[in-house]
Order: sequence, then C-alpha cells, then structure tokens
Amino acid sequence: MKVKKAVLPVAGFGTRFLPATKSSSKEMLPLVDKPLIHYAVEDAVKAGIEQIIFITGRGKRAIEDYFDISFELEFHLKFQGKEELVEKMREISNMADFVYIRQKEPKGLGHAVLRAKDVVGSEPFAVILADDVIEAKRSGTQQLVEIFEKYHCSVIGLEEVSPEDVSSYGIVAGKEIEKGMFKLDTFVEKPPKDKAPSNTAIIGRYVFTPAIFEELEKTKVGTKGEIQLTDAIESLSRKEVIYGKILEGKRFDCGNKLGFLKATVEFALHDKEINSEFEKYLKEVIKC
Ligand code: G1P
Repeated sequence: MKVKKAVLPVAGFGTRFLPATKSSSKEMLPLVDKPLIHYAVEDAVKAGIEQIIFITGRGKRAIEDYFDISFELEFHLKFQGKEELVEKMREISNMADFVYIRQKEPKGLGHAVLRAKDVVGSEPFAVILADDVIEAKRSGTQQLVEIFEKYHCSVIGLEEVSPEDVSSYGIVAGKEIEKGMFKLDTFVEKPPKDKAPSNTAIIGRYVFTPAIFEELEKTKVGTKGEIQLTDAIESLSRKEVIYGKILEGKRFDCGNKLGFLKATVEFALHDKEINSEFEKYLKEVIKC
C-alpha cells in the first residue's frame, strides 16, 4: 500500500522564539524566503504524498492562508506584470490537498497525531515535524517511505546526537540489521543523560501503519505531562516490527534559536540569488 497522507502537527506555541511567535506561528518563520512549513510540505511531496493533514490550533491562520490561493495578491502581481511570481504563488497551493484539524488543547505530540485518526483512516501515513529541516538528495520522508514500501512496517527517522543532547529527544535502541538501519525495541522520551539507552535520537520524520492510533488511544500522559508519540511507538513495538533509519543528509533543528540561525546561514549560502554577496558579507563580519 502506498503512503499518500502526511500529518503535520503545527499547534505548538513556539515559546523558544517569543516574542516573535506571540502573534504569529513559529512554522511561518522563514529560512531565506520560504517559511519552515513550506520545507516540511516539500519533504512530503517529494515522497509522493498527496494529502497534507495539518493539526492546527489558535493563532495558526497564517498557515491556512499560505497554502490557499490569494486572489488579491495574484491580481496585484498580474497588474504589475509579474506573471512569473503569480505562477510561483499558484504552485504553493497546488503542492497537495490540504486538510486542517484543530487540536483544541496542547496535550502533546501523541494527542496531536491522534486527532488525524478519522481523516487518515486505515492507511499508512507519514508524520513530519516542521522544526526538523533536512537538506538531502532524497527527502527525509522519501527515505522512510522507500523502507515502508519494502517491509510494510512502521519506520522512524534517526540521527546520532551527542550525550549532552539526549534529553531533548526521543531516544531509541535496537539491533542494527544493516548499516544505519535498526530493528527497534527500546523507546524513551527525553531521558536524562545517565538513563539514555543510546545516543540514537528520533528526528521529526515517521511513517506509521494505522495501528499506531489504537496505541495512541491507550497512551497515558507521560514526560512533561503530555501524551507522547514515543510512548505509543513503544507499545506498538510489542505488536509490530518497528524499523529505524539513520537519515541521509543534513538536519537543522529549527526549533531553537541557534539551530534556526545555522539553517538560515547555510540556506542563504546555497541561494543562487544572494550567496556570493552574502558570503562576502560573512567574511567581512568575521574579520572584525
Ligand atoms: C519531538 C518528539 C521527540 C523527537 C523530537 C524530534 O519532541 O517528542 O521524540 O525526538 O520531536 O525533533 P519536541 O522537539 O517536539 O519536544
């Protein structure tokens, strides 16, 4: 069965970016000229995903407007003779079919994903966290979908992190069955450094069989007083095989200021329009 749907939880408050996120959404912060959420949708579309299911909350209207058609803007651009930009704007709303579900209370990632149950139905689906931006030849979701299509099992994107950082992630352990690919049996959400089963972290790309919903329904409040997706994966692993794959490419953790700034600099250095001027500028600044 093909993976055609992706769930993108976007209801978080983005507290690490306050006050910038007081009245607008963290997912709309731009890396050069595209908001974080655009990169997440691109990651899905490259994997053949046709429907994007956003789990939104209060103050997230900008995301809906971004993926909608803006007649006023198009009219204005046409009037100015900027046909190319009109095309570019249309391409955004044509990327996929977009569905919006509200998460009324911030009860955690597991709770957010469970809100998509009725729309996903009995199909496999991807989960993409927009904070994790991955620059790679094959998108993060694409790498996982390829494994799903081969083994028909849930599969999670992984990365080795430093021991100092394990408490910021879901940490897993298991048996390496081929280079970079694991059959997982241990899952702990944000363990302290001395309790972590490994340094292998879950990063924001997942493909699940629909059986995850049954586990999410039973999952009790866990770390940080929230319903954790990692806990539901742990209970699913007692019934179904769960694979983990160290993802190829470079990941930027855009959920914190430093990671976001690193991504901004690198994406600017890869942007054909501004990279040479920007590089010159960086060299000047560093010299001072
Ligand atoms: C979430 C997950 C965590 C995962 C992380 C990846 O945490 O709960 O398991 O490792 O995303 O970015 P968050 O960063 O939302 O606190």
